[in-house]
Amino acid sequence: MKADSMDRRAFMTGAMASALAAGAVAQGPPVKSPNDRLGVGVIGCGGRSETHIATLMEMEKTDKTVEIVALCDIYRPRLKKKAEKIGRPLHEYSDYQELLKDPAVDMVTIATPDHHHGYQAIAALEAGKHVYCEKPMTHWRQWELAKKLSEVAAKAPGAFQLGAQRMSDTAYRQMKQLVKDGIIGQPIHAECGIFRTGDFGERGMPIDDPDAKPGPDLLWNEFLGDSPKRDFDVSRFFRWRMYEDYAGGPVTDLYPHVLTQVIDILGVTQPSQVVATGGIYRYPEREVPDTFNMFAEYPEKISIAVLGTQGSSYQGTGGRDDIRIPVIRGWDGALTIQDNDILFVPDDSVRASGRKEQRFPIEHGYNVLYLMRNLVECARSGARTLDSGPRLAFRTQTALLMGMAAWRAKKTAVYDVEKNAIVV
Ligand SMILES: NC(=O)c1ccc[n+]([C@@H]2O[C@H](COP(=O)([O-])OP(=O)(O)OC[C@H]3O[C@@H](n4cnc5c(N)ncnc54)[C@H](O)[C@@H]3O)[C@@H](O)[C@H]2O)c1
Repeated sequence: MKADSMDRRAFMTGAMASALAAGAVAQGPPVKSPNDRLGVGVIGCGGRSETHIATLMEMEKTDKTVEIVALCDIYRPRLKKKAEKIGRPLHEYSDYQELLKDPAVDMVTIATPDHHHGYQAIAALEAGKHVYCEKPMTHWRQWELAKKLSEVAAKAPGAFQLGAQRMSDTAYRQMKQLVKDGIIGQPIHAECGIFRTGDFGERGMPIDDPDAKPGPDLLWNEFLGDSPKRDFDVSRFFRWRMYEDYAGGPVTDLYPHVLTQVIDILGVTQPSQVVATGGIYRYPEREVPDTFNMFAEYPEKISIAVLGTQGSSYQGTGGRDDIRIPVIRGWDGALTIQDNDILFVPDDSVRASGRKEQRFPIEHGYNVLYLMRNLVECARSGARTLDSGPRLAFRTQTALLMGMAAWRAKKTAVYDVEKNAIVV
């Protein structure tokens, strides 16, 4: 492993290499002049970074507010592939801490395995950078880290956006406003979820190179991070989502995509208690569940059900963008989505008083571009009107990690308000 760290700097190229080698530690201001572009560093050059890079390249052309200036990955072949795709000289790093010292970097996107998100996002915010971090906020065993990230993000000069990209769908903001305006009366119940077939896609996560070995181009210790120390395993490295050391199954991989908007619509805080069921029912090669249902109770007297499996794909409610359409129920009626409208269905108890179904056209659906643009606008203006900001991300993460804790212990997870802790 010594060779890994000795050769790490060999990844770094470009003008910054000599400055950094000379020990220069740079911390750029979080907001440049409004006419400048934000320099972006992409951390993690695997599958998800395709979308980050494509979105940023589109913004380079259309918005002219950003410019990709640096890449970081601990697996050099993937980094090189992305550098070739971008097709111009970039600063290349294997160590994200080195990328964070690069004064050309104002903002980072993070698409590494779950157990790195929290550390990398905190370090980036502390270095004065803006952050677009993929969901989940942290790995399932890192609730304290999620708490720390939300605290750091609240004080940092940089803006933080969690990549729960359906938060860019106006449907959910419109539903939030309708609930606030009282259309359903007192909210009492909500359901949401995701149903899919395929173990992370029909063929699972790809193994780029079955003969890959640790060395200067593959930094195994850096992949492991704070997870249990283990000998190199090519499946763990490329197909990390199957293993509980690095992933959690649907609860952390998928449910940020559905629970975030429901929590936002309802304005609920931390659940008082959560129970969960599920297991490994279709894909025995996994360590993490493929089927997971959780039920969260909130002190606001609201129940939320999150349902799903990766073993069957019918959403049951029509579906919207590959997720189950949420239903938000109140004393006076329910809100859901039908076609391209938000649908209000009055409760039987209020129909007699003349309340009728109502439809509200949805302005636009989700697009990562909107979420990335929203972050860049906040970064440039100093505003903190983030569509998927740190407070909301932390509330969602708390509920999800209570679900995971409950499922693992086969008990009810309780939120202890006095201790500010999850107790199982
Ligand atoms: N928002 C979405 O719809 C969506 C979709 C897919 C993935 N994701 C999220 O994106 C993240 C990455 O998923 P993926 O499918 O791209 O995985 P991946 O394995 O394809 O890519 C991860 C990359 O991170 C690199 N890496 C690992 N440890 C690193 C470290 N310490 N520093 C720098 N690089 C490191 C790996 O070498 C790899 O190239 C996950 O957390 C996942 O939940 C989100």
